[in-house]
Amino acid sequence: MKKPFVYVTRKVSDEALNLLTSFATIEVWEKEYPVPREILLKKVGQADALYVMLSDRIDRELLDHAPHLKVVSTMAVGYDSIDIQACKERGIVVTNTPDVLTDATADLAFGLVMSAGRRFIEGNRMVMNGEWKTWSPYFMAGQSIHGATIGIIGMGRIGEAVAKRATGFDMRIMYHNRNRKPNAEEKYNAEYASLPDILKEADYVVLLTPLTEETKGLMGKQEFAQMKSTAVFVNASRGATVDEEALFEALRDGTIWAAGLDVFQVEPVPTDHPLLTLPNVVALPHIGSATYEARNQMAMLVAKNIKAVLQGDEAITPV
Ligand code: DGY
Repeated sequence: MKKPFVYVTRKVSDEALNLLTSFATIEVWEKEYPVPREILLKKVGQADALYVMLSDRIDRELLDHAPHLKVVSTMAVGYDSIDIQACKERGIVVTNTPDVLTDATADLAFGLVMSAGRRFIEGNRMVMNGEWKTWSPYFMAGQSIHGATIGIIGMGRIGEAVAKRATGFDMRIMYHNRNRKPNAEEKYNAEYASLPDILKEADYVVLLTPLTEETKGLMGKQEFAQMKSTAVFVNASRGATVDEEALFEALRDGTIWAAGLDVFQVEPVPTDHPLLTLPNVVALPHIGSATYEARNQMAMLVAKNIKAVLQGDEAITPV
């Protein structure tokens, strides 16, 4: 019997590729940049499975070129790059990689809380540039983390893991979510709150929602205006949840104090982006889940999902 064909849009771990080759013919896009659209459009014509990254757009046009496609497996927890409805209409299973990246992403989000609040990057730049001239009472002073109030918007798995970290810093934890999380409330002493209450009261507003029609542009001029002038905004969700122009103005004008950003509307963020001109911005290149451990586990989970679906079993982590 002919083996199924799996197209893999980036070089992933040997372990994951070996698992795929044990039952399928595979082809891997080996370059360090995303597979060009015209190549993906061609490859999908033969593919029974697509092993994709968040930079690959899986839309109706692409699916129309995919007569044999049975499963799209993304190496990410977020699946805003995939037209889920269009896949559903065609009976194509979509899978993602929850759980295995939760702790890595929460570590990074909390790292942004700390580095934006305590000015790690700005301080590092000063030292490196030879601008550290003397000790003085308020030199590089930042905001307290311990005992401060953190407001988590989007209390999914990663939100809860951030709450867990916040308990170690004796923080007051507020959260906003589509539905209440009684377990998290009990475990982390987290208080459910409306978005306006979080914006008003939190010293750290941490955005962790998935990108949906509902959350697109969630943080805009009005929202930043409600925050404290000493507050720090952290985004480890998706860039499109934030109006970047409004964020730039809020940071420039002192409406809010600082921001830690792992995600941007356009990625890689253009080097002339106004946000990158501000000293009170910590900018990272979308590395929430980028630890070897998490990425290896993600890579394997994608391969296992593909294997399960192509063998006629239930996907392990379907969307
Ligand atoms: C995800 O999995 O959605 C992350 O943003 C990728 O690191």
